[in-house]
Amino acid sequence: MSVDVSPILSPQRHLFDVPEEIAYFNTANLAPHLHAVRAAGNAALDRRGRPWTITAQDWFTDVEQLRALFGQLVGADAEGVALIPATSYGFAVAANNIALTEGERILVVAEEYPSGVYTWRKAARRTGAEIHTVTRASGQTWTQAILAALDERVAVVSVPNVHWTDGALIDLPAIAARTHELGARLVIDASQSLGALPLDVRALRPDFVISVGYKWLLGPFGRGYLWMAEEHRHGDPLEENWIVRADSEDFARLVDYRDEYQPGARRFDMGQRTTFELTPMALAALRQLVDWQVPRIAAALDAVTGQIAERAAGLGLTTVPPEQRGPHMLGIRLPEQTRARVEAALAKANCFAAVRGGSLRVSPHLHTTAADVDRLFAALAAAV
Ligand SMILES: Cc1ncc(COP(=O)(O)O)c(C=O)c1O
Repeated sequence: MSVDVSPILSPQRHLFDVPEEIAYFNTANLAPHLHAVRAAGNAALDRRGRPWTITAQDWFTDVEQLRALFGQLVGADAEGVALIPATSYGFAVAANNIALTEGERILVVAEEYPSGVYTWRKAARRTGAEIHTVTRASGQTWTQAILAALDERVAVVSVPNVHWTDGALIDLPAIAARTHELGARLVIDASQSLGALPLDVRALRPDFVISVGYKWLLGPFGRGYLWMAEEHRHGDPLEENWIVRADSEDFARLVDYRDEYQPGARRFDMGQRTTFELTPMALAALRQLVDWQVPRIAAALDAVTGQIAERAAGLGLTTVPPEQRGPHMLGIRLPEQTRARVEAALAKANCFAAVRGGSLRVSPHLHTTAADVDRLFAALAAAV
């Protein structure tokens, strides 16, 4: 299937709540608000303050739209989507619903984000399984290192699409193919890629995909997402909340307790998943992403990060080579003695990026302009 990625989106600064004097390169930490998201939040607060305007149906309609939109972003329908508060919740659902036995391996990459690692450690303690942490030999890509570590001992492969510290890419189709061959489970933390990098569960056939909503999905804090394969949808939720039970729409009969759940992955929704204040914000964000189209976002951000990599090279700084990184963020290696100076220079210039490990992680979005990039490099040139 060919994807039309032209024309590349030009900067969409006017749609974001980012003042002219701020150069923000830290979407990988916390995305700024779209004006539409903020307006949806304000309207939602107004509505929440007038509960007499909220109907019984309203407890379900926005949430179902959100489920469908998230489904669209991962190439699926609404049925596999559960609404969760944080990635740790998604990992806990996955870990509780994957059978592990003593000696089996749970594969994670070195320096992976802690939420998943702590959950897998707990699962390993409970079951006698072992964590196997993949490290890279010099010159090796993550994909090569993971493939080399994949053997019949591995029961779970828990990977991101890009490494959160520097945007280094993991070739998910290659990893998924080998994982399936081994009969292992594939869990993807897409928090640092979904919304900026296409992901299609029909092609990858993962078991679980987990994502925060407040980074590349441009949504509010407190709304995350979990997609799961059909075979897991009859599994065990972490908690038993009333709204995910059959016929919960009938408020007059909630105490006719029901053993059956709502269909699909809905049983895994967090308690109070309706989040009247947050759901409209998340909806506004996902609508905008679907409207822009993720391949076009990726192409536009690739142009920005490509330019940044080139200018970094001009200052003698190295970055992950383009074919080994995601299009939307990149790590600029900083010599140790320059890190504190770089942080101070960026702060002074109203320029926001993140030092993660030995890298300056630069994560733009469609609000990024040429003037922002100039500001970043004026600060870097003065500090390195
Ligand atoms: C890969 C990855 N997963 C998860 C998170 C955070 O998840 P949560 O806020 O749900 O704990 C981050 C935050 O940086 C991340 O980079």
